[in-house]
Amino acid sequence: LRGDQVVVVSNREPYIHDRDEDRIVIRRPASGLVTAVEPIMRACSGTWIAHGSGSADREVVDSGDRIAVPPGHHDYSLRRIWLSQEEERGYYYGFANEGMWPLCHVAHVRPIFRESDWEAYKAVNRRFADAVIAEARSDDPVVLVQDYHFALLPAMIREKLPQATILTFWHIPWPNPESFGICPWRREILQGLLGSTILGFHTRFHCKNFIETVDRFLEARIEHEHAIISHGDKETLVESYPISIEWPHPLESSGWPSISDCRRRIAELLGLAGETCLAVGVDRFDYTKGIVERLHAVERLLEKRPEWIGRFVFVQVASPTRSMLDEYRDFQGLVGRLVDRINARFGTLEYIPIRLLAAHHEHRELIELYRAANICVVTSLHDGMNLVCKEFVAARDDDQGVLVLSRFAGASREMREALIVNPYHVEETADALHQAATMSSEEQRERMSSLRHTVSEFNVFRWAGRMLSDAARLRLRTRVEA
Ligand code: G6P
Repeated sequence: LRGDQVVVVSNREPYIHDRDEDRIVIRRPASGLVTAVEPIMRACSGTWIAHGSGSADREVVDSGDRIAVPPGHHDYSLRRIWLSQEEERGYYYGFANEGMWPLCHVAHVRPIFRESDWEAYKAVNRRFADAVIAEARSDDPVVLVQDYHFALLPAMIREKLPQATILTFWHIPWPNPESFGICPWRREILQGLLGSTILGFHTRFHCKNFIETVDRFLEARIEHEHAIISHGDKETLVESYPISIEWPHPLESSGWPSISDCRRRIAELLGLAGETCLAVGVDRFDYTKGIVERLHAVERLLEKRPEWIGRFVFVQVASPTRSMLDEYRDFQGLVGRLVDRINARFGTLEYIPIRLLAAHHEHRELIELYRAANICVVTSLHDGMNLVCKEFVAARDDDQGVLVLSRFAGASREMREALIVNPYHVEETADALHQAATMSSEEQRERMSSLRHTVSEFNVFRWAGRMLSDAARLRLRTRVEA
């Protein structure tokens, strides 16, 4: 595979240029997808096509709407697609985030399917397909299609470039056929995805759900043993590729501040007393992340073990996301009120049990927080993988710190040495917080070093490597057969 043959397509762009009065600032978005795919593109170059979303995005591109990134390194080319407000409303906010997102997370938010959103989704998928086709340097490019924004793209590309190798990765869960069946355009979505050479999910369980969904709603031949679906004259391999993070961590090489410096700075910033047990949560401000359930667990801990009052502080970083949508704004309001209530119940003039930092934070600040923390809490109600828990582990080269992890995050299948909880069970999560807060340093070391071993072994290069080598094998086979 040559790097210049690789085209990645995703909705979210890896670098966002925003105008801040007379300066242009570059932001890295809070996105598991970007965290994982960006190091791969830095390593193999090529082109990344994405929605240009920053207020200064147009000012920095060339006449072909391209910019070389990362800033200062220029490893690959970012090609921006501009969407009108109407397109963004229908395709991104509407169909992708009010339809597909709750549909696939089965997250007790009723999916909304509007005809007009579906029309916009189809039209935007078509626009990105045209961009991919224009980008292809040969009749058999390697295209990496990312996520639920582009379910129709694989078949659209396949139609024009029948020889293309299309690797589609679905970054969110895939629900069971009953749940998926409520989507009015279930057949179109499935047919779109089956344009892929390989369709990847985080876990085997999601693969199984997908295959059963196809079995239920399409006339396709399924080779269960090899997880190959034949539909029309094409074959799609459905396989699990658990996504991960870059290892060693990119910020590690420039030297991390010492654990004690991180601890001192965070304690100063938040006005923490010396012996405070610090637990942190880092999420996009999203209703699937289990933030409310987690706050109830902190409240329950303080209630049933009052010895922690004054000594246990929970910091929740929540980066605002999709705030145009009512579901997200209402959720932000709900969390804010809950935090106020718990703080009023247990707080004093000197002690604030819960800090809600509802703002975007840079990677560097998050690393500092991870290194200062005693506990990291990831209690998603449902999550494809979740990379926050892997980032936390990567930041702990001191082998200390405890991870409390939801059994409903894909990561729980690999990260067995975490304290695994059912986030809906408040009592169990409160007990896990207590167990984490009182865990001996030796036990922390044992658990953390084995978690670090797992994440370093199964890092994101392994994720991409497995997908690409499966693709190379399939390419070879089709050539031999031809
Ligand atoms: C999840 C999705 C990604 C998305 C990210 C951030 O990780 O799987 O596709 O980029 O959330 O959400 P946003 O809507 O801001 O891109």
